[in-house]
Amino acid sequence: MIARCQRLATFTEEPGRTTRTFLSPPMRDCHREIAEWIRPLGAEIKIDAVGNLRARYAGADPMAPRLLVGSHLDTVPDAGPFDGVLGVVLGLALLELLQGERLPFGIEVIGFSEEEGVRFGMPFIGSGALVGTIDEEMLEKQDRRGVSVRAAIEDFGLNPSDIPDARLTDDILGYIEFHIEQGPVLEELGLPLAAVETIAGQTRLEVIFVGRANHAGTTPMRLRRDAIAGAAEWITAVEREGNRVSGLVATIGAIHAKPGAANVIPGEAHLTLDLRHAVNEVRLTAVDTLIRSGEEIAAHRGLSLRHSILMNQPSVLMNSQFVGYVGEAIRRTGCKPHRMASGAGHDAMVLAEKIPTAMMFLRTPGGISHHPEETVNIEDVEKALEAGMNLLKLIASSPALKQQRVQRA
Ligand code: GLV
Ligand code: MN
Ligand code: MN
Repeated sequence: MIARCQRLATFTEEPGRTTRTFLSPPMRDCHREIAEWIRPLGAEIKIDAVGNLRARYAGADPMAPRLLVGSHLDTVPDAGPFDGVLGVVLGLALLELLQGERLPFGIEVIGFSEEEGVRFGMPFIGSGALVGTIDEEMLEKQDRRGVSVRAAIEDFGLNPSDIPDARLTDDILGYIEFHIEQGPVLEELGLPLAAVETIAGQTRLEVIFVGRANHAGTTPMRLRRDAIAGAAEWITAVEREGNRVSGLVATIGAIHAKPGAANVIPGEAHLTLDLRHAVNEVRLTAVDTLIRSGEEIAAHRGLSLRHSILMNQPSVLMNSQFVGYVGEAIRRTGCKPHRMASGAGHDAMVLAEKIPTAMMFLRTPGGISHHPEETVNIEDVEKALEAGMNLLKLIASSPALKQQRVQRA
């Protein structure tokens, strides 16, 4: 599994580092490689209209409901090999361990095409297609080169009008996502695995300070309307708010000056703001506070402020029954079944709105993620696989499965 993650990390848009965004050419190579791994497993593979890779392994009864297992295949720029990818590779390893055995339910291993939101500034295009949230407005959204989501889909050889076919059907039992924790908690506790109970909500915004570009040599300081200086003042206000409000995390992850030359006072500063908190009201209040403070800073400096909300994802509780199965599956490996919240966003938070969903976290050495040094312990991956097999057995004899069958009969 680790070697497979490292192999997929070589499919990249940028030589020497791993960057694989929505429907970029290396995503196709990634699909091709995974298809080779799936071939001997007796699963049927398909790429849906937003580029999610979907491998169906039928149950004992072809009409049996299906459990979705997976995570995402896109990455942040200069990523590590395991964020997202490990969940897909682990799903395939579960099929491999079944050695052709058919369960009372089918398994669909899914590799979502987009979770990070890097290319279009909005995440969850992959899982969004399953829950039916990809609308016309989203399809028209453009990347930095002016390519729309719709055009990206067509360029990849897919048909945007088939997107409704990607939606969840009523024969789906639930979704399980294996993922690295991406933080220090499990390492600090000395535990390999945890069951995720809840995922923090997040809001992402684009904020633009608008001033006036002018000559850097001739314009006296007092006559400037410098957009980036206003942005700088606001950045420290954002950091202060993050420190002030307990549990809030506030990040300006990207900043871009326009026109962007050493001898031109910036006329525009474009920034992204990512705000997260486990309690929705706290997050939404912080959004308002920070927009207001940006407007005040802009007004003092003769600038104006524009903002647009790129994403507003409420915090989500995982399904308590499924969390219970994940906890029990961990306990049966002999490990303590720790339960925790996720500060990172996951496809699970999108699917949880429609189907029973839970996640299993793996310890992340050093708590390092979204970084090329991101790693995993081989023993933890082995434990996760063992817990995964336990989980399949638990679900096979679960009331959730019986309930599904009764409903469908
Ligand atoms: C996804 O990795 C996130 O930003 O939480
Ligand atoms: Mn990530
Ligand atoms: Mn991830």
